[in-house]
Amino acid sequence: MTISYPKKVTIIEVGPRDGLQNEKQFVPTEIKTKFITALSDSGISEMEITSFVSPKWVPQMKDASDIVRASNSIPKKKIVLVPNEKGIARALEENCNALAVFVGVSDTFNKKNINKTTKESLNELIPTIRRLKQMGIFLRACISTAFYCPFEGKIEKEKVIELCQAFVDSGIDELSVADTIGMANPIESYDLFTDLKSLFPNTLITAHFHDTRKMALANILASLQAGVDRFDSSAGGLGGCPFAPGATGNVATEDVVFMLHQMGIETGIDLAKLLDAIDVIASQMERPLESAQYKLHLQDQLKQA
Ligand code: HMG
Ligand code: MG
Repeated sequence: MTISYPKKVTIIEVGPRDGLQNEKQFVPTEIKTKFITALSDSGISEMEITSFVSPKWVPQMKDASDIVRASNSIPKKKIVLVPNEKGIARALEENCNALAVFVGVSDTFNKKNINKTTKESLNELIPTIRRLKQMGIFLRACISTAFYCPFEGKIEKEKVIELCQAFVDSGIDELSVADTIGMANPIESYDLFTDLKSLFPNTLITAHFHDTRKMALANILASLQAGVDRFDSSAGGLGGCPFAPGATGNVATEDVVFMLHQMGIETGIDLAKLLDAIDVIASQMERPLESAQYKLHLQDQLKQA
């Protein structure tokens, strides 16, 4: 049997949001903006640039409005996360036209992340999504703990599908389905994404893997086999949710891009320029970045010095 793969894959870069939200040390707004610009210059076409969450809960994202204003001239899809009506109002004030809402399948995680049960979140979001769709806003729903929850353990697939169905019925454009704590294995990924692709053929289906157990690339391969052609990833492999204990960074964009290019799958991203973009943020981190491609890039820089 021959396995077929998509010819082209879209990478949704989440480094400026998921990548940085977990960093305790505040990264200056101008560095974040430089990072976003350099990522865009490398060929990234869609990016989560910040989140309009409570600065008390996630201080790193307190400059969301400034980030949006400074990124205004970047002609790419720029997505901002919004947790509630207040976040939506702040984003609309800055004329954002692509918003991401986020909900955990697990009640316990959702409570810890946004102080609501999953049902409470959904009840609030469904009419809001309908209203925003009438305004012509692009809407993505990030579905957290779609495989495992740090508090409740294994999540039943039926519960994930039920939540996705509610969002699809409300008119969402995209579902970004997340392995929040990096526990999923390739069989589970193939299984869930096969179902999502066949159940929701008119909705963009994106896979969002954290790489806690170094299974993210294997999960991406399995998801490609299930027909997924959109992946969230974070430049430098930064990231993690501050309210999901034990979770580490997202799969590194540079490692995903390298693998896909080696497989003959286009991404539209220039790997060398992407690695240069990561230099911008790496200098702000107190630890070395772990991705294979970035380590090789540093070795090359040393050889040339
Ligand atoms: P709360 O404390 O229940 O909020 O937090 P509240 O409505 O009671 O308001 C309390 C105060 O916060 C008030 O201010 C509000 O005005 C203010 P005060 O009167 O005390 O001065 N407030 C806000 N300020 C700015 N922007 C807002 C906002 N909302 C309220 N939007 C809340 C509820 C949702 C605000 C809080 O829980 C929160 O901000 N959570 C965000 C958590 C977060 O950012 N998590 C990471 C993103 S999700 C993720 O990483 C997962 C993902 O990557 C997929 C995956 O991997 O699973 C997407
Ligand atoms: Mg995440």
